[in-house]
Amino acid sequence: MPAPLSTPHRELLRWYRRHGRDLPWRKTRDPYHIALSETMLQQTQVERVIPYYQRFLQHYPDAAALAVADVQDLHRMWKGLGFPSRIERLQRACACVVKQYQGQWPQTPEALQKLPGIGPYTASAIATFAFGQAVAVVDTNIARVYTRRDGLPLPLDRRQIWVHAAHQVHPQQPIDYTNALMDLGAAICTARAPRCEQCPWQQRCLSHGAVEVLEASSNPLRVASARKVYSAKPQRRGLPRIPVVLALVHHQGHYLVAQRPQQLRHGGYWELPGGKREAGESDRQALARELMEETGLDLLSARPFVTVYDEGEEHCIVLSVYRCRVFNPDQAQARASDGIRWVDPQEFLTLDFPPANAAILARFRDYHRLG
Ligand code: ADE
Repeated sequence: MPAPLSTPHRELLRWYRRHGRDLPWRKTRDPYHIALSETMLQQTQVERVIPYYQRFLQHYPDAAALAVADVQDLHRMWKGLGFPSRIERLQRACACVVKQYQGQWPQTPEALQKLPGIGPYTASAIATFAFGQAVAVVDTNIARVYTRRDGLPLPLDRRQIWVHAAHQVHPQQPIDYTNALMDLGAAICTARAPRCEQCPWQQRCLSHGAVEVLEASSNPLRVASARKVYSAKPQRRGLPRIPVVLALVHHQGHYLVAQRPQQLRHGGYWELPGGKREAGESDRQALARELMEETGLDLLSARPFVTVYDEGEEHCIVLSVYRCRVFNPDQAQARASDGIRWVDPQEFLTLDFPPANAAILARFRDYHRLG
């Protein structure tokens, strides 16, 4: 018999069986326990939550007990978790469950959201972990995993990420699947320095190894409304990617530009120093090497500025532009160009750059509010 096809669900659950965390609220399906843990976990780290969760359950073992608890006592016990209004909100929800639902929690996200103090995230988490419903749950970790794996465009559309997550959820094992996603985001697909080489979805991930893309998507929910996208994500999956780094070197309000040699394609256009990242190099190493080779400048610092995708028939060039400072700005030489110049932002925008640089110029215009 042929081996069964591997699927994203199977790959993730296999990883979860080996690496998933053993957490106290994963041993229960009691909706009150789940509501309590999810309320605590919203703004507090897992390790910190565990002792508080256990202590609360000893004192207030069910929704009825929490509903009638003294608010001062609740605050005393909550002290150290932060954002204390959370426990008052949960108390209101518990009181409503006791009074209006005769102690029976509603089971769907829609019905749970009608409880006072229960938002979309907590409602979906209770529906999943207490009632085994195959519904979308989206927190920062899960949003990051999907954004990276599937190359979702930033800024992330909040409705879109929920719809996307609803399509991905495991129909038979939503509890394990959702826990696994959370663990993957917490342990592997981390905001900074993700461990792509240990990821069960490495082969499927559209962002694997693309340092700037990984960085830009580190907290996709937080940047949801703030970030502007300057370059559409590549449309065709599986096209070979050519990583290119470019240096936007600045010094005393001026930027360094170089003129492409006449004999090359786009000869005579102005451009930023930089070039292809070689195998085994980091973006920073490639920037330092290219800058030195082309201008004799010694890289001091580099901050991500914009990433641009230039998709062709056979490959997709990924231009990662960094705003850079150098140790020796007075020593710039035209080692690989027909000339170099320092120009101010206004003049920068009057120069002819190759067409693929349009998105870089758009970002530059916004950066300097020269729209
Ligand atoms: N963060 C929010 N909910 C969580 C859960 N159920 N397990 C681990 N981390 C979480």
